[in-house]
Amino acid sequence: MSNYVEIESLHKSFQVHGETLEVLKGVNLSIKKGEIFGVIGFSGAGKSTLARCINRLETPDSGRITVGDTDILSLSKKELLQARKKIGVVFQTFNLFEAKTVYHNIAYPLRISGVRKAEIDKRVRETAELVGLTEKLNAYPGGLSGGQKQRVGIARALINEPDLLISDEATSALDPQTTLQILDLLKEINRQKGITIIMITHELDAIRYSCQKMAVLQDGLIIESGEVAEIFRNPHSHTGKLFAKVFFELQQPDLNDGDGI
Ligand SMILES: Nc1ncnc2c1ncn2[C@@H]1O[C@H](COP(=O)(O)OP(=O)(O)O)[C@@H](O)[C@H]1O
Ligand SMILES: [Mg+2]
Repeated sequence: MSNYVEIESLHKSFQVHGETLEVLKGVNLSIKKGEIFGVIGFSGAGKSTLARCINRLETPDSGRITVGDTDILSLSKKELLQARKKIGVVFQTFNLFEAKTVYHNIAYPLRISGVRKAEIDKRVRETAELVGLTEKLNAYPGGLSGGQKQRVGIARALINEPDLLISDEATSALDPQTTLQILDLLKEINRQKGITIIMITHELDAIRYSCQKMAVLQDGLIIESGEVAEIFRNPHSHTGKLFAKVFFELQQPDLNDGDGI
């Protein structure tokens, strides 16, 4: 299988108070079609900046990003709008319109691109069915649980039938049980629709549950990548080791440190 997402030598800096803050320092990543690929890193590592570069919400300083046959950094404004439709993004904070119903939140990307009402209605209902929100179409975000809000976020990201879904900490605001349900939903979407998913997170268990391959982003560089099982068994980088250690300690707490008798 050939690579579907190819990122080469990606650099991105910001000017902060007159100083240059180098956030991405030459990121390289290769992701195959149909994979659920995990990107893990501590807070501030550059994960969200990387996510935002992929659909060019941020313009990188240099490097190359290819999604399918599309060279993302060479697109005109008009071409970029088209390309973005095929890249769905799900956020930790859901980013819903509080004053719109679930239906209109999901429909929004179609409405702004002028899709006909009947077609919108059909696609909103199909997508709501897929994510388990059929009963909630007339509700407002304020009346939903965190998991339901994220289902709306996922439905909205899927409404344009993307080929790539970027999940930027989609489960980080959710409790463990809801996290599992959302991860199951993402896996089901990947299975049913063949959508490639980039799962960006600081939670190693989310990656272990969902991904075949992963990369560790540290301080703007990919310092380790490969099979998830292999990185768990034998992490090379310090950060990889730290994530694995925290994971195993959370899974198998030292019995002596338990809640005592
Ligand atoms: N628009 C911006 N302007 C200035 N600094 C930014 C901007 N976006 C991100 N940063 C900085 O880049 C670094 C990486 O941020 P981010 O990509 O959000 O990391 P992560 O998602 O891994 O927590 C942080 O130091 C952050 O403050
Ligand atoms: Mg982030």
